[in-house]
Amino acid sequence: MQLLRDGDEVGQLARFDLNHAYRLSPDVESVLDSVRLSLIESVRAQPHDDCLLRPAHPRCRAGSVPERHRKSDAGLRPRPDFLGPAPHPRAHGRPQSRLRRQRDCSARSRRPRRAQRGLHGARRRGPHPTLAVAIFLQGRLDQSRGPVVRDFAGLVGLVTGAGSGIGRSSALEFARRGAAVGVLDLNEHAAAETARLITEAGGTAQAITVDIGDEPSVRAAVDRISAAYGGLDFAFNNAGVPSTNRQLTAMPSDEWEHVIRVNLTGTFLCMKYELPALRRRGGGAIVNTASNGGLYAIPRAPAYVASKHGIVGLSKAAAVDYAPDNIRVNALCPALTRTEMYESVAAGTDMTAQQEALTPLGRLAIPDEVAAAAVWLCSTQASYVTGIALSVDGGRRA
Ligand SMILES: NC(=O)c1ccc[n+]([C@@H]2O[C@H](COP(=O)([O-])OP(=O)(O)OC[C@H]3O[C@@H](n4cnc5c(N)ncnc54)[C@H](O)[C@@H]3O)[C@@H](O)[C@H]2O)c1
Repeated sequence: MQLLRDGDEVGQLARFDLNHAYRLSPDVESVLDSVRLSLIESVRAQPHDDCLLRPAHPRCRAGSVPERHRKSDAGLRPRPDFLGPAPHPRAHGRPQSRLRRQRDCSARSRRPRRAQRGLHGARRRGPHPTLAVAIFLQGRLDQSRGPVVRDFAGLVGLVTGAGSGIGRSSALEFARRGAAVGVLDLNEHAAAETARLITEAGGTAQAITVDIGDEPSVRAAVDRISAAYGGLDFAFNNAGVPSTNRQLTAMPSDEWEHVIRVNLTGTFLCMKYELPALRRRGGGAIVNTASNGGLYAIPRAPAYVASKHGIVGLSKAAAVDYAPDNIRVNALCPALTRTEMYESVAAGTDMTAQQEALTPLGRLAIPDEVAAAAVWLCSTQASYVTGIALSVDGGRRA
């Protein structure tokens, strides 16, 4: 499949919400189709005006796109001269006029910092964002065609908050790797949809409606998965809620209690019933989703930050206590990730642009990237990793 066609304009992909496509369908071919359709609509509606790099990037100003920035007919593989801003002449040993050299260098030095970063975070030499997204999607396509590593075959796991975002991405990935997955969510329809996607792809899943802040509900859900598949080998406790944007003194006590109940008490309750089930199997792994807000403060989010710091502490405490039972427990600390939770918080603000500018990789995460870290922590590849809080943050903490 060809994602970009001759004549497609640079910058149009920047308008496309990639995450939205994944939510619509995790099937790569459909995603690529919807991306292509979205591009065509985007160009028709507003050519160039919304380019991510406008107005800083000289290539993306209104007007014609230079030939070297267009996609060739050969598919997504870039031509060698397609790799970002014009290289310094010495890099290729090609002769170039002094005037041209001066013009290129001064143009580069005028560009603001963000404009020098592609979606892959590479500076200056990195691919243009449009190309970066195309390469990323091509990578997904290649992966989907490649051999599937079924390193979770025969294992049973559960994912909370699996009806959406990071939880859905990871449930799909665990299942793709061969696990039978308990798809747990407060939202019955969302959980059923994730389970449907898994089973339609040939995997094994069972949707269960659960409120992780409610002890009988959690106990029943863990029991049901263990009974259905004969035990439990891993759990990804990922469900969570955000808090509203205010300082501590302005926070209603109800909101404080709700955020702590779901995020912190919910994680505690899940572990309380998962740990004995894992012990019965002779060991296993638990990953708890905290946040970068579990490692340092996020302004105006006291309940969220407190709950996520609590999850990091709880994970470390359990890692020490249950290591003799061959159970590993780790916390996962994503920075902003393009999920429904993020969109609900960022709607109507310029948060995305601000946060991208603060992120060394120059973009926010997508759910698959956080899910990949969760899957790794649950896998035997991470057999000697326990008690850590793993940042997945595009370099924010570097
Ligand atoms: N998206 C981000 O930027 C970001 C960043 C850092 C950490 N996180 C954390 O990642 C986790 C997943 O978030 P997401 O961004 O995928 O959010 P999301 O809103 O897309 O998904 C969260 C899911 O949790 C479910 N849920 C909410 N309350 C529940 C409850 N009481 N019981 C069971 N399920 C419940 C929701 O129905 C939803 O399906 C959360 O713990 C969140 O705090 C998210």
